Amino acid sequence: MSQLEEYMEKEAKYHMQTYKRFPVVFIRGLGSRLWDLDEKEYLDFVSGLGVSSVGHCHPKVVDAIRKSVGKIMHVSNLFYTVPQIVLAEQLVEMSFGDKAFFCNSGAEANEGAIKLARKYAKMTLGEEKYEIITAFRSFHGRTFKTLAATGQPEKQKPFEPLPPGFKHVHLNDACELEEAISEKTCGIMLEPIQGEGGVYECDYAYMQAVCEICNRRNLLLILDEVQTGIGRTGKMFAYEHFDIEPDIVTLAKGLAGGLPIGCLLAKDKVAGAFDYGDHATTFGGGAVPCSASLAVLKVIEDERLLENCAIMGSYLREKLEDIKDKFAVKEVRGKGLMIGVEFEDPIAPQAVKICLENGIVLNNIGERIIRFLPPLSITAEEIDQALTVFEEALTEAHKESGC
Ligand SMILES: Cc1ncc(COP(=O)(O)O)c(C=O)c1O
Repeated sequence: MSQLEEYMEKEAKYHMQTYKRFPVVFIRGLGSRLWDLDEKEYLDFVSGLGVSSVGHCHPKVVDAIRKSVGKIMHVSNLFYTVPQIVLAEQLVEMSFGDKAFFCNSGAEANEGAIKLARKYAKMTLGEEKYEIITAFRSFHGRTFKTLAATGQPEKQKPFEPLPPGFKHVHLNDACELEEAISEKTCGIMLEPIQGEGGVYECDYAYMQAVCEICNRRNLLLILDEVQTGIGRTGKMFAYEHFDIEPDIVTLAKGLAGGLPIGCLLAKDKVAGAFDYGDHATTFGGGAVPCSASLAVLKVIEDERLLENCAIMGSYLREKLEDIKDKFAVKEVRGKGLMIGVEFEDPIAPQAVKICLENGIVLNNIGERIIRFLPPLSITAEEIDQALTVFEEALTEAHKESGC
């Protein structure tokens, strides 16, 4: 039995079987590259699902983590720590927000956003204002409330009954949204680009209309930027593409270079609804992830990664558009380095498998969509290298499927 098979067997025996994993054990990463047990090298176009945005083990992030770990690891939120305060300051100063709150994950950030929206609405608009409208195909997390917010019935079904207070509408239909608003509605929650749902973008006009509706109907605009935030779309926050100001934004994935973190940003008038004891966490905002995050933000600035993301995103997109006809591509979607390619035929799983065998890490969403989420530091040469393998994989996958 190979070492890989041994690990796979052990995982199957000892870990709950909730992940359908690829047969690879990664042991090392640097920049855009990963290495497996056999020292085989891969180019990573998934970045740990949008987490390793500044590349794997960026030396400055590693250094910040090492220094922080050796100095202070945990004291709880009963006390102040410097990295948390400085990170809150930086995120607030670079965004629409007036206040930050730190937690440990995307789902937790969205839980916090939902709690904050409800408390604010109860205080300012009345007891009956608690409903939040979200979009079909959205993904907001796996906790009960974020699962209820998620617009994917197949993910919800096994866990019903879910907490009440969520309604779903189709994305990019402002009339349907307006009609769905009831006397109970307190907010609208959207991903600027739906990630897990298949890389579907909010139209500019739709986002403008949503913002106008929120202002006119006195509703909170909550943006789930867990995946789109911190540079992924070529701007620090995806809402900047739409010339709007949200009331609450959630962040997580790319914020701390691979350490677990979540963050809630809000305007003062909304953030003020949380009183002492209303919301808290043992681990959230710890000195180590906050130090990592400060290093990530500095790397993004020093290495001009927002510019690189926008330029490389256009380059990758153009190349993908060029092969549309050859491989029966229905649509190329996304912004910056968050790109989805939808095929007419159900070839995505097989194409991703062949890419992986040939050293390119990609992610398929269902049978027809492949998602590209490379590090924001990706180069044109790396994109060329990946696309050569990608095209070969598509040819083979089409051949094998008979499509
Ligand atoms: C938009 C969005 N929101 C929330 C989440 C949940 O984040 P986490 O897995 O960190 O709880 C994800 C995860 O993929 C996401 O993409």
